[in-house]
Amino acid sequence: MINVALPKGRLGEKAYSLFCAAGYGSSELGDIGRRLSFCDEKSGVNYFWVKPSDVAVYVERGAADAGVAGKDVLDEDRADVYELIDLGIGKCKMCVAARKDFCDEPSRPLKVASKFVHSAERYYASIGRRITVIKLNGSVELAPVLGLSDVIFDIVETGGTLKANGLRVMTEVSEISARFVVNKAAYKFKNAEITRMAEKLNGVCTHDKACRV
Ligand code: PRP
Repeated sequence: MINVALPKGRLGEKAYSLFCAAGYGSSELGDIGRRLSFCDEKSGVNYFWVKPSDVAVYVERGAADAGVAGKDVLDEDRADVYELIDLGIGKCKMCVAARKDFCDEPSRPLKVASKFVHSAERYYASIGRRITVIKLNGSVELAPVLGLSDVIFDIVETGGTLKANGLRVMTEVSEISARFVVNKAAYKFKNAEITRMAEKLNGVCTHDKACRV
């Protein structure tokens, strides 16, 4: 069996569809109710549904052999896993955004609100800008509106949340997408099965540059 951790929610559903297209499951999940795991006996895969930000933890520690995690989460956690494939789903951008009337004052530290505090710190260190980082767990767009921060460092997909809250993108920092990640020991000991799974998934990725990363 291969144990696969998928992120609960829309990204997990898209990821599961890719696994089905690759021959690892029937597209009908049926009514699994509140169950957080599901076994596809035929293809020999055990699926776990976990919080998106926890996928890398399950995979890194070997509770799952493989999983699907956003590049945003992988970068933030610096997860010690192999990133085998860019699945081309869950595409968005990591951006710095601010109120439309915000004007930066380089002589003082910039107040940055984010769920991705390590990534924010690394980004601003790379451009040599002093910051004060404010860790939030969601609804980050409110921070500049309420004066809690100058800017936010967050993912932007459609831009709808920024627009609805009167914010604008100041800098696009990086491109984000979901990755097929693998536990390092599992890659060694279940190499044939995992390599086959990676190849099949690579074959069904629909984006322009479906590739090994
Ligand atoms: C994410 C992100 C933005 C929003 C961007 O939040 O943090 O708030 O999606 O999407 P958009 O550009 O399509 O509007 P999420 O939905 O995960 O909710 P959260 O506020 O609880 O983090």
